[in-house]
Amino acid sequence: MKNTAQPLLEEYPLGDLKLKNRVVMAPMTRGRATNAGLVPTPLMAEYYAQRASAGLIITEGTWVSSKAIGFINVPGIYTQNQIAGWKLITKAVHEHGGLIFSQLGHIGSASHPDFFGGELPAGPSAINPQSQCYTPEGFKATLTPREFTIAEIKQTIQDYKQAAQNAKDAGFDGVEIHAQAGMLIPQFLSLATNQRRDEYGGSIENRARIIFEILDAIIEVWDSARVSIKFTPVLYTHVGIVTPDEETIPMFQYILKKLNDYNLAFLHITGPAQDLTGTPVAALQDDYFSHFRHHYSGRLVANLGFTQQSGNMILKDGKADLISFGQLFIANPDLVERFKYQLPLSESNPDTYYTGEEKGYTDYPGAGYNGAIAIPHEADPE
Ligand SMILES: Cc1cc2nc3c(=O)[nH]c(=O)nc-3n(C[C@H](O)[C@H](O)[C@H](O)COP(=O)(O)O)c2cc1C
Repeated sequence: MKNTAQPLLEEYPLGDLKLKNRVVMAPMTRGRATNAGLVPTPLMAEYYAQRASAGLIITEGTWVSSKAIGFINVPGIYTQNQIAGWKLITKAVHEHGGLIFSQLGHIGSASHPDFFGGELPAGPSAINPQSQCYTPEGFKATLTPREFTIAEIKQTIQDYKQAAQNAKDAGFDGVEIHAQAGMLIPQFLSLATNQRRDEYGGSIENRARIIFEILDAIIEVWDSARVSIKFTPVLYTHVGIVTPDEETIPMFQYILKKLNDYNLAFLHITGPAQDLTGTPVAALQDDYFSHFRHHYSGRLVANLGFTQQSGNMILKDGKADLISFGQLFIANPDLVERFKYQLPLSESNPDTYYTGEEKGYTDYPGAGYNGAIAIPHEADPE
């Protein structure tokens, strides 16, 4: 349905999926899989179900294998128990009328030996990404990793494929490849962390190869129209040396051009958190999302710091097809209804983003649109 006042509230056909609005819940690590098996919990089902009025939910980044780990209490999607845990979540979201994609991730060299019984994590090259890893003992500096063998790269690609199959078995509506800064994929793209001399290093084509090999493996189990990728070519926080370089723009142009042939669900693009002036990607500063429209013909989900107003505006301008909201969804489980009825927004507390419990997770109340508190209306006659 067309809503000229608020395009965010329009229905949107995503291939054969029908989104009830154009509001996407962005993937957010919340560290609530507080058990040794990293199994998604009933508390997580409650959290996601509370947010099911989003047109689409994308889960927190989820480990594709035991080798992919590098942050405490983040769930995996590689064991039968984990699949069973996710089933509870997809069922709860579907019962509340929502749709949900699983975000598949691998942290590569930005992990820590504390997660591997003292063994080093592996990455594209034996180069310390110089970032911080959230271990069970708190944040620790990353170390120089082992370099992936070719066999390990091939195995990692298979791990993504198996995780994608597991997501299907768990009842997800699609999957998103987590290629946001700091993760394994950008470590391959970056000149700073990838100095390989084989077919996965050197040229732009070689460094980007892993994205397409992962994608090709995943679309053996999912229709490409149910697969997305989230990435950003620009600066982001706590990602160490994986920052834009002089080949970032041509790299992304190459990737976008090639992705045109894939008929993906969408590309999920995060914007710049900082002023890009003086960086190798300064050319993206103005009208950031239009650059992607120019090089990519498929659907775009725009992300980073959007508000109700700026989200409606960019949709009206046709520069994106859907908008994802991260932090606003933490304290506003009923974000869509708040947009609809112009209700005030609550502030989230960053101190409880990863604290592993109910507090700061499922205890943010809705604004009461559903009868618990009356929808704002004409003042009652006295
Ligand atoms: C607590 C928290 C955890 C996040 N975890 C992930 C994640 O697992 N995967 C991912 O792609 N992005 C992650 N992000 C980034 C968000 O998806 C989003 O890009 C970012 O919050 C900017 O959108 P916003 O300004 O609407 O919050 C996280 C953000 C926050 C605040």
